[in-house]
Formats: sequence, structure tokens, C-alpha cells
Amino acid sequence: MTPRVSGRRLGSAGGGEPDPAWVAVEDWFDERFLSPDEVLEQALAASDAAGLPPIAVSASQGALLQSLALAMGARRILEVGTLGGYSAIWLGRALPADGQLVSCEIDRKHAEVARANLARAGLADRVKVIVGAAVQTLDRLIDASADPFDVTFIDADKPSNADYVARAILLSRPGSLIVIDNVVRHGRILAADPDGNARGVHRVVDLIAAEPRLSATAVQTVGSKGWDGFILARVAG
Ligand code: SAH
Ligand code: DHB
Ligand code: MG
Repeated sequence: MTPRVSGRRLGSAGGGEPDPAWVAVEDWFDERFLSPDEVLEQALAASDAAGLPPIAVSASQGALLQSLALAMGARRILEVGTLGGYSAIWLGRALPADGQLVSCEIDRKHAEVARANLARAGLADRVKVIVGAAVQTLDRLIDASADPFDVTFIDADKPSNADYVARAILLSRPGSLIVIDNVVRHGRILAADPDGNARGVHRVVDLIAAEPRLSATAVQTVGSKGWDGFILARVAG
């Protein structure tokens, strides 16, 4: 058996079983590029033990988010959808000591699990988990004229994606990056009878396409989470 380096778990929620070759390739890179990480492993184990769904980003996706945040020189990061804090650990580790990640989570139990995981990661001082419907949380940040975020990661209820992007623009600076998870959904976005999640992707894509302040591209991904992808949208500078 090859060593497990990154806490990968199979079974992408919502079906679409991964091709074993995708997983083998992901493992091959992970074994070379990622170090065993007790904190991340424990965050997944604690999330599992608490009954949270296994839908965190994969380790290689977490590493991608971290690279993007580092490349952006991010000092302030916004996340929509905390779950157990797995992606927040990857992103939070990209921050300088005086940086901040604000993560929005509607489920009180998820937020509690995340706070414990983030504390174990030594990130309690840098990451603030705000419990509530993210639209309201973002509206409150806008009303409070919060300092702009350099990077926003949107990964919550998919039908609300457009609501989140519209608000993330207002919470951005010129040059900020907005990343949206799960925009391919095993290709189901092109289904003849799109479900609510697929319609959420259509809505956010229509918004971005019509929004002169954003330039965007979609990156399709395959691996342990099946066939999915991210939108990367840059706020005009
Ligand atoms: N980003 C996480 C995964 C998030 S899963 C990771 O990769 O580790 C999606 C999360 O969004 C769930 O915890 C869910 O409770 C939360 N969520 C769903 N609807 C929400 C809403 N309206 N506002 C805020 N959070 C929401
Ligand atoms: C689901 C949600 C996610 O954010 C994800 O990355 C994978 C699956 C889901 O709700 O099925
Ligand atoms: Mg996701």
C-alpha cells in the first residue's frame, strides 16, 4: 500500500464515482508534493466523527487554494461555507500572522467542529467563523464597510452562488480573486433537466459573463472528488 499523505477520502457526495486512474494520479502527485499532516488528517477525522458530510475539498485542491492565496499575497480572505474548517486551514496557513480569514457557516455544529479544528491548527487568532446565513453575514460586512478581501472562496449552498458573487464583488478590491467550487458537478451542469445546484451554476455564470468588473475562467478538475471544477474570477483592476 502506498502511504496516505493527505487524508483523501473517496466518495464524492452527490454521486459521480471517480475513475480509479484519476485517483491514482492524484495519489501519485500528493505523495510527492504533500507532506503527511496530522492537523489536516485530524480535522477530517474530527469532522467525520461529528457526522459532517465528507465534502471538503481534496488535499490537492486545498493546496491549490493555498497557492492562489499566497500568489495573491492575501492578507484578508473570505470563505463562504466552512464545514469542518478543512479548506479554512489550507487558506489560513497562507496568511501572514496579522492576516484574517472570515468564514461563513450556517450550521452551528459545523462551526463548532471547525473552530476546534482551527484551534488545533494554531489558527484561532487568524480565522473567524461567523454563524448564520452567508447572505446576511456578507450584507453585514458590506454595511460595516469591512476592509476588502484579497481572495474569496465560495463553497456553500450552490443555488445562492450568484448572491455570494454579487456581494463578494462589493467586498473586493481591484485585483481580488473570487473562487467558486463545484461548478462542473460531474458534467451535470449541462443536463437537460438541471437540478437546483446546476441552475445555481448557470445563474452565477450568467452573472459573471454579464459583469464588466469580472474576468473569469473555469478550471475542470478530476480526482478523488470525481469530475468537478472551479471558477476563478478576477475583479477588474
Ligand atoms: N469549504 C469546506 C466545505 C464546505 S461544505 C471545505 O472544503 O472544507 C458547504 C458548507 O456550507 C456546509 O457546512 C453548509 O452547512 C454550509 N452552508 C450551506 N448553506 C449555507 C448558507 N446559506 N450560509 C452559510 N453556510 C451555508
Ligand atoms: C457537495 C458540496 C461541495 O461543496 C463539494 O465540494 C462536493 C459536494 C455536495 O453538496 O454534494
Ligand atoms: Mg465544495
